[in-house]
Amino acid sequence: MSRVYNFSAGPAVLPEEVLKEAAAEMLDYNGTGMSVMEMSHRSAAFQDIIDTAEKDLRELMNIPSNYKVLFLQGGASQQFAMIPMNLKKNGVADYIVTGQWAKKAYQEASKYLTANKIASSEDKTFSYIPDCSDLEISDNADYVYICENNTIYGTKYKTLPNTKGKTLVSDVSSCFLSEPVDVSKYGIIYGGVQKNIGPAGVVISIIREDLIPTEELKDVPTMLQFKTHADANSLYNTPPAYGIYICGKVFKWIKNMGGLEAMKKHNEEKAAILYNFLDESNLFKGTVVKEDRSLMNVPFITGDKDLDAKFVAEAKKAGLENLKGHRTVGGMRASIYNAMPTEGVKALVEFMKDFEAKNA
Ligand SMILES: Cc1ncc(COP(=O)(O)O)c(C=O)c1O
Repeated sequence: MSRVYNFSAGPAVLPEEVLKEAAAEMLDYNGTGMSVMEMSHRSAAFQDIIDTAEKDLRELMNIPSNYKVLFLQGGASQQFAMIPMNLKKNGVADYIVTGQWAKKAYQEASKYLTANKIASSEDKTFSYIPDCSDLEISDNADYVYICENNTIYGTKYKTLPNTKGKTLVSDVSSCFLSEPVDVSKYGIIYGGVQKNIGPAGVVISIIREDLIPTEELKDVPTMLQFKTHADANSLYNTPPAYGIYICGKVFKWIKNMGGLEAMKKHNEEKAAILYNFLDESNLFKGTVVKEDRSLMNVPFITGDKDLDAKFVAEAKKAGLENLKGHRTVGGMRASIYNAMPTEGVKALVEFMKDFEAKNA
């Protein structure tokens, strides 16, 4: 068996320990004589899996007791619709557009309410985070929406926007559990798990309870109502059970690593290895402003499309996979999520140095 260093933006690398544990439990989970994939979601064994997962996540993120943790499906993209459908009271929401995912969320919300684009960094190909300290927040905004880490462009909010008292909703799909957060600053903090936490198919949404409608919404499908899932503790219908089981294992792995402070330190050290090299290189350069650089997604270019393609192809041969940039921006992108070991980033930088020496 030989594993590669997988720099995919998602689905992405998972901790090897977790994969090995799951493999060992594949045929017989904890004496049940069956795989978690084969298990009723109404069984005591699965109830324990989901309860333990929620408890560990609450501990890791220090989630206040007035927040619900929901394990949902439909990808982060389904939240683009669920959020406006469930949060609209005045029918107005403000969106800060810092990349394709924020833009898609904004466009989707426009179907259900009046969505205002109050700031954007599209003028410079989303290579920075706009100043959000004094934006014109709508007086009647039901919420202000951000995408906190922009997977495609490699930018991250270092300070949250000043929402002037309005509810903040944040998509953290690509920075989930990468560093400590203050959950109490958010109304909703949510993300697909397929980058930092588990296999595709699970979305975790952490929602302040007062934002969950108390009455059924007549014009919203049952499955798209937060109330449905909150009332049933994420077991209204068959949940993505195996995915939740893997998420639970990743929560334990992060706890064993020392929690989110330790994760942050690990991620900062890893990212510095790559960014320091990019800042010195004569061939490669990063594509975003330094102060807004993501710790998770690192886009870079040589400035020559053919050379970029050669780099990606040769890197693949060297066991460094999925370094091609997003189809809309080109170049390269290294996603270095929690589970990417430091050795993987070092191997990438060594390969880049070698490539530079041969091609500069
Ligand atoms: C920040 C962000 N939000 C949303 C999405 C969409 O997620 P999904 O494919 O789970 O709908 C992605 C996917 O890469 C993403 O990176």
